[in-house]
Amino acid sequence: MPLPKAELHLHIEGTLEPELAFALAARGGISLPYADADELRRAYSFTDLQSFLDLYYALMAVLRTEDDFADLADAYLERAAEQGVRHAEIFFDPQAHTARGVDIGTVIEGLSRALDAGRERHGISTQLIMCFLRDESAQSALDTFEAAKPYLSRISAVGLDSAEVGNPPSKFREVYERAAAEGLRRVAHAGEEGPPAYIWEALDVLGVERVDHGLRSLEDPELVARLVRDRIPLTLCPLSNVRLRCIDRIEDHPLRAMLDAGLLATVNSDDPAYFGGYAGDNYDAVRAALGLDDETLRGLARNSFEAAFLDGDEALRAR
Ligand code: HPA
Ligand code: ZN
Repeated sequence: MPLPKAELHLHIEGTLEPELAFALAARGGISLPYADADELRRAYSFTDLQSFLDLYYALMAVLRTEDDFADLADAYLERAAEQGVRHAEIFFDPQAHTARGVDIGTVIEGLSRALDAGRERHGISTQLIMCFLRDESAQSALDTFEAAKPYLSRISAVGLDSAEVGNPPSKFREVYERAAAEGLRRVAHAGEEGPPAYIWEALDVLGVERVDHGLRSLEDPELVARLVRDRIPLTLCPLSNVRLRCIDRIEDHPLRAMLDAGLLATVNSDDPAYFGGYAGDNYDAVRAALGLDDETLRGLARNSFEAAFLDGDEALRAR
C-alpha cells in the first residue's frame, strides 16, 4: 500500500503521456512531428526549463476539445491513485490553450468533468489552480482572469509558472490583487531557476501562502527564517529538478537540509509524463538517494496534507 499523500505541484498538461498524445492526435486529425510514442519519448532530454517548455507547449496542440481535457485528467487520476495520491491540487495553463484558439470554458469544463468524477472513480479529491504564464504580459494575465470569471467557483487558487528568470513575481501584482479580492488562494513558482529575491517577492508582493519549488531558499538564511516562522510550505519536485538540470544529481537535492532547517517541505511530481515519475516515484527517489527513513517519509506525507488547501474535516477524510 503506497503512503497516502496529497499532490500539490502538478501541471495537468505535464501528465500528457506520449501514448495519450498520439491517441488524441489521431482522434483530432492532428499530425505530430514524431514517428511514434517511443520517438517522442526519446526527445525528452532537457538542458534547462526553457528546453522543456518548448516541447511542453508544442505537444499541447493535441488538446482541443472538452473530451481531450477530460481524458487527460482522468488518465492522471488513475496513475495518481496507484501511487497513493488522495488529494490533488492541479495546475492548468489557460493561456497556452486560448492562444491556440481553444476557449477557456472548454478547458475548465473538460478538466472539471473528469475531476468531479475522480472522487468516486479514483478516490481522489481535487482542486484546480489557474496559472498565469509569467513570460506573457501582465495584461494577458489580467485578460485571462477576466475570461475565467464565469468559472471562478471551480477554481480555488491562482498560480504563476513558465519561464522564471527575467519575469519576477512583482510583474503580476495587479492580477494577484484581483484574485485575492475574489477570495482565491495564491501560490507561485519561485526559486526554481530564479533567485531567492523572487521568493521574497512572491511572499511580500503577491501574498502567496505556498511557494512552488522554492528550491533555492537555502541560499538566503533570512528567507529560511521567514518561511519557517510563517510555516510557508514549499512544493518540491525532485525528479523535475534533476531533469531540468537545476541540480546535477538527485543525491544533491536539498530536501533533507530543508527538513533539518525546519521548513515545511513537500514532495510532488511537477510534469510526471516528462520527468520520469509520478508522486510516489518522487518519494521513492528521494528515499533511496537521500537515505530517508520511514518516519521521514511519513512526515513528508503529513506535510502534504498540512500544506493542502483543505479544511480540517476534509484533510481527515482525504488521509
Ligand atoms: N516550471 C515552470 N513552469 C512550468 C513548469 C516548471 O517546472 N512545468 C510546467 N510549467
Ligand atoms: Zn511546476
